[in-house]
Amino acid sequence: MAQHTSPSQPGDRPAVAEALADLPAHLVRTFERRMERWLPDLRAGVEPLYDDADAVVDRLLAVAARRFAARPEDLHDLDERRVLAPDWFQQPGVLGYATYVDRYAGTLQGVAGRLDHLQELGVTYLHLLPLLQPRPAPHDGGYAVADYRSVRADLGTMADLRDLATSLRERGMSLCLDLVLNHVAREHEWAARARAGEAAYRDFFLAYPDRTEPDRWEATLPEIFPDFAPGNFSWDEELGGWVWTTFNAWQWDLNWANPAVLEEFADIICDLANTGCEVFRLDAIAFVWKRLGTNCQNQPEVHALTQALRTVARIACPAVVFLAEAIVGPRDLLAYLGEGERHGKVSDLAYHNALMVHLWSMLASGDTRLSSKAMAALPPPPSTTGWITYARCHDDIGWAITDEDAEAVGLWGSAHRRFLADWYDGSFAGSWSRGLVFQFNPATGDKRTSGSLASLAGLEAGDPLSLERILLLHAAILGFGGVPVIWMGDEVGLLNDPDWDSEPEHADDNRWVHRPRMPWVEGTHRPPDPHGLLPRLQHLVDVRRSLPHLHAATPATVLEIAPDGVFAVLRRHPHGPFLALHNMSPTPRRVPWWVLEHVGLGRSGAAVTDHLGGLSGPTALHATDTGGSVDLAPYQVRWLTA
Ligand code: GLC
Repeated sequence: MAQHTSPSQPGDRPAVAEALADLPAHLVRTFERRMERWLPDLRAGVEPLYDDADAVVDRLLAVAARRFAARPEDLHDLDERRVLAPDWFQQPGVLGYATYVDRYAGTLQGVAGRLDHLQELGVTYLHLLPLLQPRPAPHDGGYAVADYRSVRADLGTMADLRDLATSLRERGMSLCLDLVLNHVAREHEWAARARAGEAAYRDFFLAYPDRTEPDRWEATLPEIFPDFAPGNFSWDEELGGWVWTTFNAWQWDLNWANPAVLEEFADIICDLANTGCEVFRLDAIAFVWKRLGTNCQNQPEVHALTQALRTVARIACPAVVFLAEAIVGPRDLLAYLGEGERHGKVSDLAYHNALMVHLWSMLASGDTRLSSKAMAALPPPPSTTGWITYARCHDDIGWAITDEDAEAVGLWGSAHRRFLADWYDGSFAGSWSRGLVFQFNPATGDKRTSGSLASLAGLEAGDPLSLERILLLHAAILGFGGVPVIWMGDEVGLLNDPDWDSEPEHADDNRWVHRPRMPWVEGTHRPPDPHGLLPRLQHLVDVRRSLPHLHAATPATVLEIAPDGVFAVLRRHPHGPFLALHNMSPTPRRVPWWVLEHVGLGRSGAAVTDHLGGLSGPTALHATDTGGSVDLAPYQVRWLTA
């Protein structure tokens, strides 16, 4: 009897009890313990959102129980391993790689046959861009999902996905998938039923009979794709209304104020987790909650929703972690990793967009004052979380340098942003970059940039220092803390795809210029590496893996005391300080020895180890034989420890 008095016992919840009925006793116990542990978090996620919170919690627990009961044995085992090592994704040996399935190897089976290359590179985390069934093209590279329960037919089947996830696990790689939760395709069943007039499904969306409401919202909403999808609402004849479409007209925003949407996504997450997905990239998560009079991004409810979903996953499939795709200002970003009462309860990972933008900004100007100051002011992420550090991804680069950060060093924000856009599209005199302008907005003057890492870094223009720049960018993301993610092709310096617009459905979206097809050397598992980047990158990855200082829980502090042109990052670990010095300029730089001493390195004649000193192994630096300074060749990086 006593065991049924606690509110967290499955017996009190008929749907939960029923779902667990056929399970062996030890699994039922596991579920009970998790439920007991996480129920308060689940409530705290749901309560601020819905009037009938108790009923919503009950239904979410029933979802968790059903999916837990269906979870394959090997994934229950993975859950146990992850619970024992919750910092698995923070380890210095973790390396990410991101790609489209078709661009990398045609199909899911093709990817399974091309894992040797990733393994040689040291990859332990593979983000496959959207692969679920989208609407017919155009579909924004799969970000307009028509069915979350099936795989895009030309890429394979759910069984292929499960097999690939299993092969990845066998090689120590975790599968990351996109969870597109701000919107669904106009062709998704929910949208089709809304169009057919079913009120319950119309309530899955935000639709208005005339412009009154949309105009009130538009007053404070920015435009995401001002060029090919202006405005935030689209008239739909069949629906007989203006439907909220933040992105394209065929990507219908979901109404997360309707708990049925939350329940559907809880189930989708657990279902995909049961196929072997370990990391969910919460696509465009900043946009999911709307509030009149705001820009409808970063609303507090976003974090409550994330906590509710995260908690369901913790109960049903705790191997899962969440990655927030919140490309938002630094001040809003931390909340995605858990601030205040949501500390440790929302996403585990978030993109460090500011680091990416500042790296490119420093390379263009050769000046580190703005970036060092701006980055030094950023608070570290909670110790149980980490950044996704990246130099390029499948999206454009928005020049997100804030006015305040620019002003702090005497620059004018809009002028600097304009300089970066012009530098990287190659129109600025002396630029070595070959990017394309993405989404020029004449109303705001805002210009973003598309282009592959190698083309943006000068390889296409034949700049003699471009390879050093490419390696520097990778060293910077490997040394900063979190999961560094390499964008497909960057490891061999793939250039812009000159035929990017030959597929009609890509022609108005030049982000396809940096989404080329991966070339493979006939009869091998390797891509051609004409510039010899691969071994140099592999070396960086190997060195990183050997340095305990680079665990993501060791915060990265940007120092402002290094000479201009040098971006200095300090990681204070119990093993001692780790100092990364990056020369962001095309001319040599000299860092005075006292900078090292200031952080606790090389005091009283002690030697300092440079782990990137040579391909064959670390080298030792002494104040005496360096003349009291550390020299950096153009774009050189040094990783220093005691
Ligand atoms: C995210 C994706 C981007 C997509 C958008 C809409 O920002 O990274 O590629 O266009 O969401 O789903």
